[in-house]
Amino acid sequence: MSTPQRPQTGANVFLNPDSQCAKWYREAIQFIPAGTSKANLYMRPHPLYVRGGTGCWATDLEGVERLDCVNNFTALIHGHAFSPVVQAVTAQLTRGTNFAFSTPEELLLAKLLVERIAGLDMVRFGNSGTEAVMMAIKAARAFTGRDRIAKFEGAYHGYYDDVQVSFHSTPPAWGPDDAPASLASSGGIPKHRVQETLVLPWNDADSTERLLVRHKNEIAAVIVDPLANRMGFIPPAPGFLAHLREVTRAHGILVIFDEVISLRVGYSGAQGRYGGDPDLTAMGKITGGGFPVGATGGKAAVMAVFDPGTRGPRILSGGTFSANPVTMTAGLAAMQAMDRATFARLEDMGARLRQRLNEVFRKSGQPGQATGDGSLFRLMPIGRPLRNYRDSVEPGADARSSRLFMALLDAGIMVNDNGLGCLSTPMGEAELDRIQAALERALATLAGG
Ligand SMILES: Cc1ncc(COP(=O)(O)O)c(C=O)c1O
Repeated sequence: MSTPQRPQTGANVFLNPDSQCAKWYREAIQFIPAGTSKANLYMRPHPLYVRGGTGCWATDLEGVERLDCVNNFTALIHGHAFSPVVQAVTAQLTRGTNFAFSTPEELLLAKLLVERIAGLDMVRFGNSGTEAVMMAIKAARAFTGRDRIAKFEGAYHGYYDDVQVSFHSTPPAWGPDDAPASLASSGGIPKHRVQETLVLPWNDADSTERLLVRHKNEIAAVIVDPLANRMGFIPPAPGFLAHLREVTRAHGILVIFDEVISLRVGYSGAQGRYGGDPDLTAMGKITGGGFPVGATGGKAAVMAVFDPGTRGPRILSGGTFSANPVTMTAGLAAMQAMDRATFARLEDMGARLRQRLNEVFRKSGQPGQATGDGSLFRLMPIGRPLRNYRDSVEPGADARSSRLFMALLDAGIMVNDNGLGCLSTPMGEAELDRIQAALERALATLAGG
């Protein structure tokens, strides 16, 4: 095995047709459609294969080490092979991986989340963020006796029928600004299900109120990502979430926060930062310490629908691997290490990084900005101010993002191909310098054609 290299340019040897990555891909496409089980890893000419990672570094099959700012789509807040997680999980593995009985670790992780996050009286675990959203939607339906849900245009909430709607809409099909069309964002969803999801315009309080009031007797819940990645991490405008809460409360509509990514922004999640008083919260990613996880929590009265002993509309939920002690142990170790001071350090680093990256965009003369909050950042290839999803859609922007992604990979930095990135606890000032230098180099490459 070759010694890893940390190049600052010329890292993309994996693109050579005789690279190890190319070889694995050629075989993978014979057994796995497109060679990957994750649609978001699909890229041309083929995905980057990784052989391992330590801390904030990941090594590809060619032996090139890059700074990993993707962290498995923001899930790894401590980077790779975080020693407290490795130790806790190793000990758990020797005691068994899962049982058809309860284990104490489930309670310990539930308590930690309830103590930190205002919208949670109780929590129930599953295996992915998608499942967490699905359970929250079912809970809202069972609690209200209504069927429809509403979501914001441009927000991704996992690969579940009701929410795979209008998260990458484009004109002209997307309809009017103040009443976005309900469009399928994936194949395989019954047309009537797509139409049942009401789509709302982010940060447009009047239109959101008008649409909700028009359908008030049908809507069980509005699902809200307070800092939606797909939109470009556009925060809620001042007063927007409070107004939404007022309108929903007046009409018996529940509010579900999707904090699968945004929980990362602080000790008490995005709801701790922006308010919003959700009835239910869907979580995942960082709460599993690197293992598959989903968690649905909320106010006790609503969460009672999960209680098999409760009279009324109950939800039958299970899951062979739900709340398995390996995930619970890993999640507990990862979250315990994220105390207030550690979140504050990441927040401070994130704020300074975004400022530095925005300065790099400005000096380059190319359109672009770094958005985000806490440890999250997104490199948007668009210069204008972003207030809603439609501001983040611009002809040629996807192509610019892909070129930037490739140029950053070549400069030794991994971000997602849409520019999503995040910091992890092993990172410090040297890594901020490195990210800044990589963006400077990448933009210079792009300017050179
Ligand atoms: C905001 C949001 N909600 C839900 C999900 C679905 O989570 P998972 O991929 O764990 O199913 C994601 C995944 O990226 C997400 O970003």
